Amino acid sequence: MDMADVDDRKVKKSFPLTRQSTLGALAAIVRNPLDAIPPSIFTEPLVFSKTAGEMKVYLADPVLIHEALVKNADSLEKGEQVRRALGPALGQGLLTADGAHWKWQRQSVAGAFRHDKLRELQPVMIAAAERTLQRLSASTGGIIDVGHEMMRTTFDIIVETMMSGGHGIDVNRVESGISDFLKPTGWSFALGLLNAPEWIPYPGKRKAQAAVEFLRTSLMSVVEKRRQHPNDRPDLVNLLLGASDPETSRTMSDAEIVDNLMTFITAGHETTALGLAWTLDLLARNPVVENKVLAEIERVTDGQPVTADHISKLVYTQQVFSEAMRLYPPAPIITRAALNDFQLGDYIIPKGTVLIVPIYAVHHHASLWSEPHAFDPDRFSPDAAKTRHRYAYMPFGAGPRVCIGNAFAVMEATAILAVLLQKIRLVASAPRPPAPIMKITLRPKHALKMKVIAR
Ligand code: HEM
Repeated sequence: MDMADVDDRKVKKSFPLTRQSTLGALAAIVRNPLDAIPPSIFTEPLVFSKTAGEMKVYLADPVLIHEALVKNADSLEKGEQVRRALGPALGQGLLTADGAHWKWQRQSVAGAFRHDKLRELQPVMIAAAERTLQRLSASTGGIIDVGHEMMRTTFDIIVETMMSGGHGIDVNRVESGISDFLKPTGWSFALGLLNAPEWIPYPGKRKAQAAVEFLRTSLMSVVEKRRQHPNDRPDLVNLLLGASDPETSRTMSDAEIVDNLMTFITAGHETTALGLAWTLDLLARNPVVENKVLAEIERVTDGQPVTADHISKLVYTQQVFSEAMRLYPPAPIITRAALNDFQLGDYIIPKGTVLIVPIYAVHHHASLWSEPHAFDPDRFSPDAAKTRHRYAYMPFGAGPRVCIGNAFAVMEATAILAVLLQKIRLVASAPRPPAPIMKITLRPKHALKMKVIAR
């Protein structure tokens, strides 16, 4: 089917095609892709839009999201935009690969994320949170950058759990490297939309390339060191070294292992850290909720240090983290490209269409949430959650490409919140929360500075 037929016959029937001015849309994507989401998707179930000649469908209706990401998963791929923005750093690792190459990688690492395996990691998560507590306690009375502190904590956890310590990898340089890589991603999206050649320079590109080079070289040395000094720990490095494709029996090259280590290190710490930073800001501005969290921590731990047994009992604390990720989803937009024509609700989605699930808009949608902008962790009480469509809330995505680290993230976030909040109070230093800005992940526009007070 010709794409033009769909624009004009099907689409216009009930949802007028939103035509964004190409220049306006590109400027918004470079500035903050959240501004490029058509405003109508915050109230409508789906919106068709065309920018720079490219057809896009925005989905906010949970039924349609289920139909696309779950039922029609085989008709979708990550697509050119994702490859262009993330490919230089993540190659063909688990997040960016498609088809059979994705499948065997997912099967190879799935064992590390089984519930019983994750339970074994809880003491490591708590120990990392305690190191952060010590650092923050040493700053009592001072101001800290909470985003930076959470990045350090979750990075510490991912390196400890997935790479058994990381063989001396430099945390600070890795963190700034990831920021340098993510900063200009708006440009690569915008230029991708224009089909501009990939060599075209743009602000921040050189720095991003240098950062990727540094990150990949550091991880290559982790792989080399592990090959020289093998151990039998069941960590991600060994899983990847031992993986073999069930169809071809081939193993992963060192470059493919680095693709995956890069993927797990970036996807596995930045998102949780941002979710935690936003949670701490929301708690500081909502003392009633904060007191309920403190009461729960006190009741569950009986005033003793947090242990692995406490984590799953901190139910309200988890609800708070869920609600923070509703308001500030760390991965605010996911995209796919249609591999073939397929039926979606009343529409035929033609091959090549870009599907956009603006998780940020779904989580603020007027028909899915009452008072969408209010912070109310009771929305995630077990009873309230039952009354909602499963895909009205999807911080971890949906379908076969759902986040593999979902349960890992919730566990570590709960552990970190409990360990920190039990001993220190963090007070927001700005009168209002910073605006969220999307750089693949949802970051605060200005650093979240908070004052540390001992409890
Ligand atoms: C709060 C924290 C996290 C959030 C909000 C989050 C969000 C997401 C989302 C939305 C996706 C799907 C992307 C898409 O459909 O295009 C995803 C995929 C992924 N996440 Fe997470 N994530 C988090 C934590 C983690 C952690 C802790 C790890 C690893 C330890 C991880 C590793 C991955 C990987 C490898 C994928 C690709 C999975 C695949 O395609 O098979 N994430 N994440």
